[in-house]
This record gives sequence, C-alpha cells and structure tokens, in this order.
Amino acid sequence: MSEPLLKIQNLQVSATRSSAKLPVVDGASLSIERGERVALVGESGSGKSVTCFSAMGLLPESLQVTDGSIRYQGSELTALGAEKLRRLRGPEIAMIYQEPLTSLNPLLTIGAQLKEAAGRAKAGRREILEMLDRVGFADPPRILRQRPHELSGGMRQRVMIAMALVGRPKLLLADEPTTALDVTIQSQVLKLMYDLSYDLDTAVLIVSHDLSVVRKLADTVHVMYAGQVVESGPVKEVLATPRHPYTQALLDSAPHMGDTRDRLESIPGIVPTPDQWDQGCRFRSRCPLATEQCEQRPPKVEEDDRASMCWHIDRLVARQQEAAV
Ligand SMILES: Nc1ncnc2c1ncn2[C@@H]1O[C@H](COP(=O)(O)OP(=O)(O)O)[C@@H](O)[C@H]1O
Ligand SMILES: [Mg+2]
Repeated sequence: MSEPLLKIQNLQVSATRSSAKLPVVDGASLSIERGERVALVGESGSGKSVTCFSAMGLLPESLQVTDGSIRYQGSELTALGAEKLRRLRGPEIAMIYQEPLTSLNPLLTIGAQLKEAAGRAKAGRREILEMLDRVGFADPPRILRQRPHELSGGMRQRVMIAMALVGRPKLLLADEPTTALDVTIQSQVLKLMYDLSYDLDTAVLIVSHDLSVVRKLADTVHVMYAGQVVESGPVKEVLATPRHPYTQALLDSAPHMGDTRDRLESIPGIVPTPDQWDQGCRFRSRCPLATEQCEQRPPKVEEDDRASMCWHIDRLVARQQEAAV
C-alpha cells in the first residue's frame, strides 16, 4: 500500500516546566489515508489538541516534539523549518478551531479574509463565491461585505469552513469545530463537513470529546487517554464492541449531541496528570477490570484494523456479551 497522507508514529510532545521536560503526549500513533475521516476522542487534557497542533507545526513555544515522527505525504514534518511548514498550511493542510471569533479578524470583512486564504491557495473570487454557496449562504456577495460580528455563531463556523476549504486542501484538521454551537447547528455543520470532505476528497482529522460527533463524521476513531492512543479502529466497530475499558466507560457515560461539557463527570475517578504517569496502564485507577498485571506496561493488541492497549480484552468482551443477553 502507498504511504498514508499523514502518519504520526510514536509521537511524544513535552512541556518544559522549570527546566524539566514532562511529556503531555506520550507515544501516540495514528495515520490518515487520502480522503479518510479520522476522529481523535477523549476527555479534556488527554492530548488531542496538542497532537493536532503538532501535525500543523503550530505548537506553542512551551511545547516540543521530543520523540517520534510526523510524516505528511512521506516527508518528515518535525524536520521542516518554520517557513516550509507555513507554506504547507492553507494549500495542503488547513485547520478550523473551536471558536471562530478568535480566529477571524473582527476588523476585516469576510471577503478580505477569504481572499487572503484563497490567495495562499491560488484560488480566485469565483472559487470563493462557489465555496460560500457550498457552505449554505444564500447570498454570497453580501457575506463578503460583512464583518464577523454581524454573523451568528453557526454562520461564522461556516465561514471558517469555507476559508479552510477554499483552496481544496488535502487535509483538514478540525479541533472541536462544533463544540461552541447549539445542537441543531452542530448537526448541520457536521453534515456539511462530511459532504465537503467526501466531494473534495479532503481527509479530515476531527478532535472531539463527544462520541456522537465522532459517530456522525468519522470512518476511523482513535481514543486518547492520558497522552496515549489506547484504542483505534473503524468507528462502527469500536463503538459497538469497544476493546478498551476506557472506550466502554466513555460510551456508558455518553453525553448526547449538544452537550457542551468538556469533561465527562460520570466516569468515576480522575485522569492522572503527566507527573503521575508511569509505565503501567494509565486508566487502571479508574478501571473496573484492573488487576495487578495492569501495573506492567500495557500490551499493544492488534487484530485486523483494530488495536487496543489492554490486558483484559477477553474479560471486557465477556462482559459485553453478558450485558447483551
Ligand atoms: N501551551 C502549553 N504549555 C504547556 N502544557 C500544555 C500547553 N497546552 C496544553 N498543555 C498540556 O498538555 C496536555 C494535553 O492538552 P490538550 O492537548 O489541550 O488536551 P485536549 O485537547 O485533549 O483537551 C494537558 O495536560 C495540558 O495541560
Ligand atoms: Mg483540546
């Protein structure tokens, strides 16, 4: 098989705190094929955004990639200089954020901002108007003259999507793109992202703490916990028969669409902070299946296109079967 569009392997990102380096993402791996929609899900603080920003080369100064590799179409991004990375952003890799107001310039018209985004990708006015039409604006020329504060939250998010996609990037990174929106608008925006990704053959990496978002948009899911990817596989299979107790716990506490809590309070216990991480399974203090064995480094169990870092998959599956009868 040819090289995936994006391949993150064994990524470690560390924060510098009073001269010590503490990993906040610790051995995360995932890959994205052309046109594939991949979700990164997990509670707040698990390292989803940091993983996503690493792929954009947009880490803040306090964070550094300290191990592992990020390859985009075969070239190593962690080795690219700032200028080359900047040139990839926009035309090749685009990003949308949770709160469009902070990423749109309040002083400039939508037209001016779209023009800049389009220019970087060598797209013109026709492509801009077409894209505004695609994202559902009835009167694109009018939107061009407006400023961000004149639009609703949902409209601003659609402008962000238009800006990100006007250059037809190969990869769209979307960090909690619908968390700030109300339920009905959330569904519309997700459907729009899904359709556009399909039509433009744009791969999507969506970051979310909400399984219903993942279910709606993604083909493949990676579940992150305490800086690691603890389970991965096709969305339908992972959500139907999870192979990691953490995924099971997320499902059992599943917030419904539109729930904007950033922390799922119903999973008992607390997420260990990076200074508490050890070589054992990081979920063990909250896990109903944990045994002494879980103090050892967790295994990487791979079968077909599914993977899990759990010693007790058999017991988890047995429980699921019991619950089903
Ligand atoms: N700029 C930063 N400097 C230092 N630590 C950070 C920074 N941003 C995030 N972190 C830490 O990295 C970890 C993962 O954060 P993040 O990726 O934002 O989580 P998520 O997106 O899953 O909620 C957290 O422990 C957070 O405190
Ligand atoms: Mg985040």
